[in-house]
Amino acid sequence: MSGSATLPASLILVGAGKMGGAMLEGWLADGLPGARVAVIDPNPSAAMVELCRAHGVSLNPAAPAEPEALVLAIKPQGLEAAAEGLAPLAGPGTVVVSVLAGKTVANLKDRLPRARAVVRAMPNLPASIRRGATGAAASPETSEEQRRTAHALLASNGHVEWLESEDLIDAVTAVSGSGPAYVFLLAETLAAAGVAAGLPPDVAARLARQTVAGAGELLGQSPEEPGSLRQNVTSPGGTTAAALGVLMAEDGLGPLMRDAVAAAKRRAGELAG
Ligand SMILES: NC(=O)c1ccc[n+]([C@@H]2O[C@H](COP(=O)([O-])OP(=O)(O)OC[C@H]3O[C@@H](n4cnc5c(N)ncnc54)[C@H](OP(=O)(O)O)[C@@H]3O)[C@@H](O)[C@H]2O)c1
Repeated sequence: MSGSATLPASLILVGAGKMGGAMLEGWLADGLPGARVAVIDPNPSAAMVELCRAHGVSLNPAAPAEPEALVLAIKPQGLEAAAEGLAPLAGPGTVVVSVLAGKTVANLKDRLPRARAVVRAMPNLPASIRRGATGAAASPETSEEQRRTAHALLASNGHVEWLESEDLIDAVTAVSGSGPAYVFLLAETLAAAGVAAGLPPDVAARLARQTVAGAGELLGQSPEEPGSLRQNVTSPGGTTAAALGVLMAEDGLGPLMRDAVAAAKRRAGELAG
């Protein structure tokens, strides 16, 4: 369900910073004609101005028409201030796609009172290289066609999981939203452990970084489950098995990851209020 066929006929992106900019690049790469897009951002970067110019994207148009899709990628704390200007753009036929962390479908409908179809999405950082993982939930008024449009918009930046209930977004935030930081920490701690095992720090850092990146790439390309990839490189009684005996112990990585994800989920709930 991706590709330019299901991308909308008219689209307004509000907020062209890190996430909004990455999304715009993904849509253009997927073949969305720039003429179908308008970007609203009071202080666009020079690179964004150039991207818009090169693709014929309208930047800060004076009186934009109500679009088929309105994508919100401003900071969550900016919603209140932006809402009055945006409300006329989100009509009953518009699908609103928000990546604003912590802003619920109800919050968005309060701020955009004419909107019916609202999709709340939680992307993650690798969206910037089109390898993201996004969880998304739609308001009940969202039609199948609008859901396909939202899917195409989100899938330009990677994998999309549709959730049956918006209540699951906090868990998504805790797993894939915050997850890249856990993987970066893995590279850091593996490098530190390499130094403790006698490697020079720069050698340990390079080996750990490439190991995490290479294993991630392999996982991304392989049809096999992570568990079977792990078993494939673990000979009984060998060196990997010795390390996994520690990592997979009762007090090993499993319970630690469970506690970490639970803490992130709790915090996501608190921040959403
Ligand atoms: N980055 C991520 O990995 C990530 C992951 C998941 C979700 N998100 C969500 O993505 C959203 C954007 O995050 P970001 O990291 O991309 O932030 P960002 O780089 O600060 O981008 C936000 C952009 O919106 C602009 N803006 C502010 N007020 C606006 C308004 N009223 N109308 C139009 N544009 C306005 C900002 O301009 P100024 O700089 O001039 O204020 C900035 O260019 C957040 O809600 C965040 O929760 C981000």
